[in-house]
Amino acid sequence: MADSRLSRRQFTTTAAVTVTGLTILPGGTLRGAANNKLNIALIGVHGRANAHYGALKHENVVALCDVNEKHLAHAAKTFPNAEHFVDWRKCLDKKGIDAVVCCTTDHTHAFVANWAMNRGLHVYCEKPLANTVEEARVVRATYLKNKDKLATQVGTQRHADVNFNRVRELILDGAIGKLKDVHAWGNRQIRRPGYLPAEGSPPSELHWDLWIGPSPMHPYNPGYYGGDKYRPGANCLQWNMYWDFGSGQVGDMGSHTMDLAYNALDADLPTSAEGEGEKFNPEVTPVELHTAFDLPANDWRDGVRLNWWQGGMMPRSPMSAVDLNKIGHGAMFKGDKGFVIADFRTRLLIPYGKGADMTYYNARSEQKLIPDMGNFQMQWINACKGDLKTSCDFDYSGKLIETMLLGLVAYRTGQRISYDAATGKTGNAQADALISRPYREGWTLNG
Ligand SMILES: NC(=O)c1ccc[n+]([C@@H]2O[C@H](COP(=O)([O-])OP(=O)(O)OC[C@H]3O[C@@H](n4cnc5c(N)ncnc54)[C@H](O)[C@@H]3O)[C@@H](O)[C@H]2O)c1
Repeated sequence: MADSRLSRRQFTTTAAVTVTGLTILPGGTLRGAANNKLNIALIGVHGRANAHYGALKHENVVALCDVNEKHLAHAAKTFPNAEHFVDWRKCLDKKGIDAVVCCTTDHTHAFVANWAMNRGLHVYCEKPLANTVEEARVVRATYLKNKDKLATQVGTQRHADVNFNRVRELILDGAIGKLKDVHAWGNRQIRRPGYLPAEGSPPSELHWDLWIGPSPMHPYNPGYYGGDKYRPGANCLQWNMYWDFGSGQVGDMGSHTMDLAYNALDADLPTSAEGEGEKFNPEVTPVELHTAFDLPANDWRDGVRLNWWQGGMMPRSPMSAVDLNKIGHGAMFKGDKGFVIADFRTRLLIPYGKGADMTYYNARSEQKLIPDMGNFQMQWINACKGDLKTSCDFDYSGKLIETMLLGLVAYRTGQRISYDAATGKTGNAQADALISRPYREGWTLNG
């Protein structure tokens, strides 16, 4: 067993060479200004994007793109030298950009990520990386074609908490024996009846048609996204539950919480998926949901059953004294000798069952602990300038979100589906039709 996931994964990169402050990247490209700063385009500049300002201030932010012109003005106070765009497609054609940070709506993430990588740009993309199984597959394939040249990171910054490493070590080192079942859950519940009716007109600063982007057109309603007058940024909980704009808690907290479980699995794509929950609503993603997947065996463990629970649906606790409902967002690993239960910051080990005497557990020495990854955003920035290695690249995070989104497909069919990870097909016509979604004319996923 290897000590860290990074060291297990194959990076066929050669190290970057730095010559008098300029960086020659593995592809032979010369990047950045003489001071070795990246030229960055920030796409979606308010709300979540504010959390990136601190890291970006030390680079050259040369382009700002937002469908809300007031938000461009807000970001210009921090990044006064950047050119402004309202359409990310035009922004990505600006010459001299090295890297992109994307903090837009979920239904545009895979588009921005693909287009950016196709133009040779490193990408940091907020979670979730995609809104459909097909989008996840296309982004991952684009990344794998370019992984010797580009650094990518999905914005699951909780991954930097050292608890992620400690949980992984417990599982790998056999603290609960042979791993059998894995569960991750989240208790957030935001209910909406359906798409909103037309209401008023978009504020003059807001380019509504571009906000809708590739999704089917919906009439303006400030309940989706109203601009500054209604809520200055951080609107994702207004729109991410509508099928055309997000995947609800699957892509939202699911991206973070499944990461806590997935990080300990060295998982490949599942061979099957099933889902149950509240009655299907064609307009709004489910609040109550349980999805389950068969993950194939790998070189250190047998196949495992992976589960995602949300909106109040929960796995059973191994002991009545431990109330899993008190852990809002958590993960539980079941082995043949016990359980590990974790939230983002803490973990609990419960030896359980016959022979659970811990004699089989070889706790690792301090020297062999998985190294702390440091600041999450800085890992990507340093990777762009150096060895391209990140913890949540579009391969790891692409597989995670493809799995989660496949669960929504299974839920919608109401059937257990098998999955061929090589082709992205299920052999079930209804499920295969839900792997992708229609786009508005003029919008291309992989442009
Ligand atoms: N990593 C985290 O912990 C975390 C936390 C919150 C949000 N997020 C993610 O960040 C993203 C943004 O969330 P938010 O709450 O800031 O949303 P938001 O609706 O407030 O939008 C963020 C910004 O993007 C702009 N925007 C929207 N569509 C755009 C487009 N097509 N082109 C350019 N700009 C566009 C908006 O005008 C706004 O300035 C979401 O995908 C969300 O999942 C991540």
